[in-house]
Amino acid sequence: MPDADTSETPSFPFPRTCPFSPPAEYARLRPAEPVSEVVLQNGRTAWLATRHEDVRALLSHPATSSNRAHPSFPATVADIGVFAQKGFLLSMDAPDHALHRRMVTSEFTANRIRRLRPRIQEIVDDCVSGILERGADRSVDLVQELSLPVPSLAICELLGVPYDTRSVFQKYTEVLLDRASTPADRQHAFGALREFLGELVVSKETEPDDALVSRLVVKYREAGVYDRELITGFAVLLLVAGHETTANMISLGVAALLREPAKLARITEDPSLTPGAVEEILRYFSIVDYPTARVALEDIEVGGVTVRAGEGFIASAAAANHDGQVFPDPGELDIGRNTSGHVAFGFGVHACLGQNLARAELEIVYDTLFRRIPKLRLVSPPEEIPFKDATVFGIHRLEVTW
Ligand code: HEM
Repeated sequence: MPDADTSETPSFPFPRTCPFSPPAEYARLRPAEPVSEVVLQNGRTAWLATRHEDVRALLSHPATSSNRAHPSFPATVADIGVFAQKGFLLSMDAPDHALHRRMVTSEFTANRIRRLRPRIQEIVDDCVSGILERGADRSVDLVQELSLPVPSLAICELLGVPYDTRSVFQKYTEVLLDRASTPADRQHAFGALREFLGELVVSKETEPDDALVSRLVVKYREAGVYDRELITGFAVLLLVAGHETTANMISLGVAALLREPAKLARITEDPSLTPGAVEEILRYFSIVDYPTARVALEDIEVGGVTVRAGEGFIASAAAANHDGQVFPDPGELDIGRNTSGHVAFGFGVHACLGQNLARAELEIVYDTLFRRIPKLRLVSPPEEIPFKDATVFGIHRLEVTW
């Protein structure tokens, strides 16, 4: 491991002092010490990579482990039991990871998600209509009215959660994902959701529909390898991985575009620019910054240091996405820039499985919201928006008016 004396070692994660830029320490470390030592909240040390090329090299290195139960795993999140469950791809290694990921990849192809777009459009339209109806005083919290319900309803649609049980699903999801919830509340909500999704899987065994859970049930029963607990685990994973991430990106993107009206005008005038703007907003915020962590399984030479077998490292997505060698003037939200190679969805074998779905939701939300409420604006100055500097960076509330 790096130095035993950690008194001089910077503590990680670094706080974001400005919601519209990553921690300044990344830009300071990158040229001088691109792979440097940091000390985590649990007192353990780990390596931190801040250069784009090193982050990609580390995330695609075959001799690394994502096993979050490994004693050297650089954990920045308190685990409430999610990682240990069957099918939790984020914490699995080869060959099990590849085997399990292959079981669900066909559900997330660009084609499959394209077919879901009309339903996502309806969900977004309903939410925006709700905002317009409810906003008699013309001011709403966009997080509650749009950012949280859209991904939640999209996942319901994807999994095949029936309409009449959606309120139960949403109730527990809210508690689980609300950072104000106590650990006991979150634990309880997690147990309840697992039970709910377990029952959903059982119901699809007898009454399959055309959605993801049923398709997996039918496919793996036919192949003679059906495992109810595994399919339940997949459903929980998709919910946990896909909900808060997308919700925060919806809020942050809206805030960023409302903060820079000239850029917003470009996409409202020419919606063909929206997909590029979505990529840039993903790069700019890089909200999943440090969960992209691993343990080295053999010595790895990177950025001038040797990460020894058994040591943990964090490959910072926000630092990589703000590396000026790859993205010139990285602190500028430039909706026309070339964003190829950004790592906002990770990189390598664990790269986000739901990225096509997330893109579809973001594109539809930004296009629909600004088209239907063209006079939308922030109630308070952007600097006063209550940001949450949590594992997944985001916004607590976003008061808007029109
Ligand atoms: C804008 C929204 C999203 C962002 C920024 C995001 C980001 C990420 C990142 C950075 C990873 C890689 C983690 C690692 O390397 O350890 C990841 C993995 C994953 N994401 Fe997403 N995600 C988003 C939305 C979604 C959605 C909508 C779903 C599904 C409904 C989803 C499902 C997953 C899954 C299953 C994995 C694990 C893949 C694996 O380990 O093989 N994500 N995501």
